[in-house]
Amino acid sequence: MKAALSTEHLTVSYDTPQGLVAALRGVSFTLFQDEILGLVGESGSGKSTLALAISRLLDPRRTQVSGKVLIGSRSLYDLSSSNLRHLWWEDIAMVFQSSMNALNPVLSVKDHFADTFLAHRPTMTRTEIRKKTISLLQQVQLSPQVIHSYPHELSGGMKQRVVIALALALDPKVLIMDEPTTALDVVVQHSILAEVAAIQKERHLAVLFISHDFSMVSGLAHRIAVMYAGELVEITKSALATGHSTPHHPYTQGLIQATPQILGGRVRIQGIPGEPPDMSKLNPGCAFWERCSQRLDKCQTLPVPPQNTHTFIRCHLMDSSSSDFSSQSQESQGSSESNGSRGSRGSKEEIAHGR
Ligand SMILES: Nc1ncnc2c1ncn2[C@@H]1O[C@H](COP(=O)(O)OP(=O)(O)OP(=O)(O)O)[C@@H](O)[C@H]1O
Ligand code: SF4
Ligand SMILES: [Mg+2]
Repeated sequence: MKAALSTEHLTVSYDTPQGLVAALRGVSFTLFQDEILGLVGESGSGKSTLALAISRLLDPRRTQVSGKVLIGSRSLYDLSSSNLRHLWWEDIAMVFQSSMNALNPVLSVKDHFADTFLAHRPTMTRTEIRKKTISLLQQVQLSPQVIHSYPHELSGGMKQRVVIALALALDPKVLIMDEPTTALDVVVQHSILAEVAAIQKERHLAVLFISHDFSMVSGLAHRIAVMYAGELVEITKSALATGHSTPHHPYTQGLIQATPQILGGRVRIQGIPGEPPDMSKLNPGCAFWERCSQRLDKCQTLPVPPQNTHTFIRCHLMDSSSSDFSSQSQESQGSSESNGSRGSRGSKEEIAHGR
């Protein structure tokens, strides 16, 4: 498997009135070619910051970035601004959070596409642009007539499809989608997800798909990365994500248990108690410590070392010196499993460090 995009110890701090506050802390992961990697986490965990950092779209006057982002073999933060402009949309494209509201109200759909093509492919003729635009609209199940519409004439789902088609216009290799369906009803959400899956397969795209919704992402992505307080705490294979024999980070367990189940009997949804930590006052150990029902004495003070394998769990319960992860997991899962919730159990040997 070839890497399409990778980060090495990517760290981002925002300049705030209280000083520099970290939003991303040492994030390392690889997105492979022809893969959908889901990224989940609570609001404020740093998902959009990661998306902006790997596109080099953060304002350098208000942010401090360190670490590496590699697109193929090119180091993003070492590129000149003209090389960066080529890379945007041609190598890496992004569907921003709430981007359907960013369509220009005074431009027709046709004009949005023409602007993009003329900026990057100035030799394209009007006829070629029109043909390519119609083909892109059809790929996202929109009729060719939409080409003449203005944003206010389109439904939310249609606008989101236009934005996805625009992101695909220059045949990028990597597509970052930040909550592309959050504002849509579940039926439209479902059909857009099916289209994203089909387009990814057909174009062999590498997709980073960001969402709050663990169950939605597990149905779409090949692997799921879980973010908490600016760190990746777990990467798991989606096929195993909700299996009964899969161990998970305690935060991932909380996300899974907070997911409503359609099948089975009535189940009390268990949220994750407490609030995400204040990023300006983190303890030196695990950021999840205050909310973790399985915490150990050492967790508050002893940093949990970062990992950069294809799948991992970053938690002191995985340390060989700690008491057995599986027995702790089973203990904490026992009550939820008995009332029908999907729990996660298993031994740490079951974590495969490979795809
Ligand atoms: N421009 C900014 N200036 C200062 N702080 C910021 C800025 N943008 C984001 N933050 C802070 O960085 C942290 C991460 O924010 P981010 O938007 O990346 O989270 P998120 O996981 O995408 O959340 P959501 O799910 O709500 O979209 C938050 O604490 C947020 O308040
Ligand atoms: S390191 Fe400790 S506090 Fe953090 S998630 Fe694991 S058990 Fe809980
Ligand atoms: Mg966000």
